[in-house]
Formats: sequence, C-alpha cells, structure tokens
Amino acid sequence: MEAQLESLRSDAIAAILACSGESELEQLRVRFLGRGGELTALSDRMREVSKEDKPRIGKLLNETRSAVTTTLDERKAALVAVQEAGAFSGIDVTLPGTAFPVGALHPITQLMDRATAIFRRMGFALADGPDIESEWHCFDALNTPADHPARNEQDTFYMPDGRLLRTHTSSIQIRTLERVSPPVRIIAPGAAYRRDEVDATHLAQFNQMEGLYVDEGVTLGDLRGTLEFFFRELFGKDAKFRFRPHFFPFTEPSFEVDIQSAALGTDRWLEIAGCGMVDPAVFDAVNERRGGRVLDPEIHTGFAFGFGLDRLAMIMAGVPDIRLFTDSDQRFLSQF
Ligand code: PHE
Repeated sequence: MEAQLESLRSDAIAAILACSGESELEQLRVRFLGRGGELTALSDRMREVSKEDKPRIGKLLNETRSAVTTTLDERKAALVAVQEAGAFSGIDVTLPGTAFPVGALHPITQLMDRATAIFRRMGFALADGPDIESEWHCFDALNTPADHPARNEQDTFYMPDGRLLRTHTSSIQIRTLERVSPPVRIIAPGAAYRRDEVDATHLAQFNQMEGLYVDEGVTLGDLRGTLEFFFRELFGKDAKFRFRPHFFPFTEPSFEVDIQSAALGTDRWLEIAGCGMVDPAVFDAVNERRGGRVLDPEIHTGFAFGFGLDRLAMIMAGVPDIRLFTDSDQRFLSQF
C-alpha cells in the first residue's frame, strides 16, 4: 500500500506537470482525486490495513492527496498565466493609449456662464422668457409704437398667428415684471432674432444678456456702478467707460456704453451695451396688465441694460467674423 501511494504520487505529479491544457488537467483531477479515482480507490483499502499501520498509512494518504491537490492548483494557475500572457503578445503595453477627445462648452456659453456668475455675485437672479414672443411683450409694453422700424416685417420674423421671434431679450423685463413685484433684480441671457443680412458682424440669431433692477430709489449711479463693475471683472481693472446719450423707447434717459481697455488691443472706443433708466411708460403697461399699481413711478425707479454676448465674445477674443461661432469648425472652437 505504501509503495502504491508513493508511485501514485509520483505518477500524478509527473502527469500534471506534463499536461498542457486546462481540460486535460481536469481529466487528471478526476482520474486521481475523483469519486472513482485512483486515490479514492486506495483510501477505500484502508480497511485492510492493520491497526498498527493505520496511522502511518493514513498520514501518507493525506499527504499524497494534498500534494496532488497543490500540484493541480499550481499547474492550473501556471496555465492561466501563460494564456493571459499570450493575450498580450504582440501588444506593446508601454505605448500611449488612444486618447478620446473631451468636448468643451461653446465659447458663447462659457461667456454666458462667466457673465451670469459675476451678476449673481451682485445679487441678480436668473430670469427666462419664450423665444417666440407676443408683439405686446416684445414691443407694446416696452413703449415701442406700432410705427417703430423694429416692428417692420422686413426686420422681424413673424409667425402666421402674429407672434414673433423676439428681437431682443428686453421682453424678459416685461415677463418678469408681470409676475414679480419690486424689489426685482434679474439678468436674462438668451437668443434674439432679427432679419439681418448675414455678414461678418450679423447673424439672424444671436445672443444677448438683459438686466433689470427695479426698487425704491434706484439711480443712474447704481446703473453705472453695476455695469462698470461687471465689465471691469471681464476686461480688467484698467477699463475706461463712456456713457453716450442714446435713445431706446423703454428707457429714459438712455445710453450706449463704450469701453476702452488695453486688453482689447486697440485704443479705439468700442460700443458694448445699451442701457438706461426704466421709462415709467413700461411700469404703466405692466400695471394695466396686472390691474393695480404694483409699480408706482412715484416710488419705484429702475435701470435696464442689454448687450450682445456674441459681440462681446468677438471683442474679447479678437474674433473677426461672428459666423465662426455657428460654423462648428473644430479648429476654431477648440481654441476656447
Ligand atoms: N434691447 C436693446 C437692444 O437690443 C438693448 C437695451 C436693453 C437697451 C435694455 C436699454 C435697456 O438694442
């Protein structure tokens, strides 16, 4: 029995080490350790072993089983390792991998986010309104009479039902004042549409940012301070401003804001925004809608401003043609 165990052990180990595949290895496991296997057959014969030999033979039997089991496990691990190494053969794992380019926000969106963050620091909330707007919200309530050129069919996109694509984000001033009572302090970035001939400085769809602040005792000084703070955050502390008298139907007085800054690579004054003190006629229009005198021109004053985000982005990055923003040319966009 002892000799049989010894020879089973050396046969099994030799066969296991010689085997070259996992299925062959499994067959060997069954052959030696399986229920009808050779080692099982030998252990069945323990009954025939004399009492004094039993401990020794029993120990040998256990040792043989564990030696065979260990050899099986080790061989299996070795075979798996060889297989895995094979999977990498021909592949140089030290080569750089394939880079998947990560996208980025559009430059106009980036500017919109930056501008929004600056105004939020000054307590402005984000407001919104529909792109397809009623004539009333876009024009009438903004004190823009029926014969104003902005309302001309040649200048504006009208829907068959008389609504239109808003020509400016100022309609959001009205949308906000219809719902909210002073104090009101909002900014509203969004698309605006005009029937412009498309060229290097005009698109039929562009982006604006509107601002409105209505409360008791809001002054022109507040307007000026707010815009100067905002544009200095964008352009740098050295930026100089000029508030040039202008006309908008919905503000009185009205101004255009010009900026001069070394960062802009020119010593020319650049026009960047329209603004003014909210015309009491706007309050009247909203009051009439709301029924009552929520906005009292004797108590409330306000300022409003609006500027083109596309134009601002062009000035800031020295972009010569506004159409680059809508061309989806990666060579242009990936610079931002
Ligand atoms: N809505 C004006 C425009 O599109 C800009 C503006 C906004 C002017 C608010 C004054 C106040 O040109």
